[in-house]
Amino acid sequence: MMKTRVLFVCLGNICRSPAAEAVLRSLAEKSGVGVSLQVDSAGTYGGHAGDLPDARMRIAAQRRGYSLTHHARRIVEEDFDRFDMIVVMDEMNYEAVHRLAPSRVAAEKIFRMTEFCRRYPDRAYVPDPYYEGHEGFELVLDLLEDGCAGILEYLKKERSDD
Ligand code: 4NP
Repeated sequence: MMKTRVLFVCLGNICRSPAAEAVLRSLAEKSGVGVSLQVDSAGTYGGHAGDLPDARMRIAAQRRGYSLTHHARRIVEEDFDRFDMIVVMDEMNYEAVHRLAPSRVAAEKIFRMTEFCRRYPDRAYVPDPYYEGHEGFELVLDLLEDGCAGILEYLKKERSDD
């Protein structure tokens, strides 16, 4: 079966995108239906490169059963060859990733996480929780669980159209 390669991108790659990576992997394993994935994450800012996710995000994610073990890295232009979908969290990420795209066709791989949200249809972006309290991390996880379920639906539909 062909693998779909999904890269999640946020600013620091220590809160939102490593959590999204773990949520999508977990949902895909649980749903077990026909979608084979390779999932990774990266940041547009490299200042946290090599770091594990923020401890607040690790704890909040662990409470929902997700183990975050990713080490932060900065997105590079080659990621446009290595991935089929590049899913960004907010408009700042969108602009930065779009500038990095080597071609117009490559830029068509960029999606916004909130495009896939169904329970939270009015959200336009996944807010940066870095300077937020506890609720910020819970909201991020709620949006990521919603969006990742939407991504799986999208991929299943895409496969059945082939
Ligand atoms: P993230 O959160 O983009 O969800 O990983 C942030 C982490 C670090 C910083 C900003 C956002 N920072 O400026 O260091």
